[in-house]
Amino acid sequence: MKENFPYRNALVTGASSGLGAALCRELLRAGCTVWGTSRDAARIGVQGVIPVSVDLAHAEPIRAFVQEMYLELGQIDILINNAGYGVFGNLEDTDPEDIHDQVELMLTAPALLAQAVLPGMKARGEGCIVNVSSLAVRFPLPGMSLYNATKAGLTAFSRSLADENHEYGIRVIDFQPGDFRSGFMDATRNLGHGDEAWCAMQRHMASAPDADTVARQLLRAIAAGRSGTICAGSFFQARLAPFVQHLLPDCVTRLFQRMYMGKTGRNGLGCVCK
Ligand SMILES: NC(=O)c1ccc[n+]([C@@H]2O[C@H](COP(=O)([O-])OP(=O)(O)OC[C@H]3O[C@@H](n4cnc5c(N)ncnc54)[C@H](OP(=O)(O)O)[C@@H]3O)[C@@H](O)[C@H]2O)c1
Repeated sequence: MKENFPYRNALVTGASSGLGAALCRELLRAGCTVWGTSRDAARIGVQGVIPVSVDLAHAEPIRAFVQEMYLELGQIDILINNAGYGVFGNLEDTDPEDIHDQVELMLTAPALLAQAVLPGMKARGEGCIVNVSSLAVRFPLPGMSLYNATKAGLTAFSRSLADENHEYGIRVIDFQPGDFRSGFMDATRNLGHGDEAWCAMQRHMASAPDADTVARQLLRAIAAGRSGTICAGSFFQARLAPFVQHLLPDCVTRLFQRMYMGKTGRNGLGCVCK
């Protein structure tokens, strides 16, 4: 990988845990200089990463970070907008502040960071921006409406950005992983804890691949020069389910989605993960 990895300076948001930490390890192995962000840089445990503290759910710290980036980080060849968490549960029970933070972190921050690195990439005629979305965009499961909406927005953003910048030699990847094991479930602001959807997610996560496997899938795709939408994760979620979805009417897919999340009727299937 080291010989044929096309980029040198990488910035990864959400580098303290899960996929972000795994991506940092892979990028270092590929020979990159890696800057990683967290709300608390002391939490970044990957040896060799240059840690940066920034809360990406709030406009002011993002603006300050973007300005610093110009001065201190210099040339960024690859930006990976990875930081994220879920606000799950019934929308009517959701704190408006959580709605605001979810949109800022998952949409505003990636847009501002992409805006900051694009001029340099255009001038050099190369670069790569990866926005970590989710297979939830194809399968907007119940109990995750706000999370699904921000990821769908991020996917649309990536796809437009890819075509806007294709002629400048810049690749934009809409990365859509299925479930993988990480700190995600612990970090989730879950308002429906203990309900069917939450129990179903716990079950799916338990048998999901680990974050390192998913990070390697992404790094291989980048090294191979791919752009556009890239799916990753288990064979069932990343390959079989999207293929079968094309063959089925929407109402059938949605019925399967409800069953997958343990929600088959007014009273659900009952919770089994106590
Ligand atoms: N796990 C899955 O099954 C799955 C599936 C599809 C997509 N994804 C997506 O993959 C990405 C990585 O998630 P993960 O599963 O690796 O979760 P994770 O282990 O919980 O890691 C999330 C990272 O995001 C950072 N973060 C959270 N809130 C932040 C904020 N306000 N400002 C700055 N950084 C913040 C965290 O850093 P600090 O807490 O240290 O600040 C942490 O490093 C997310 O975008 C997630 O939506 C996950």
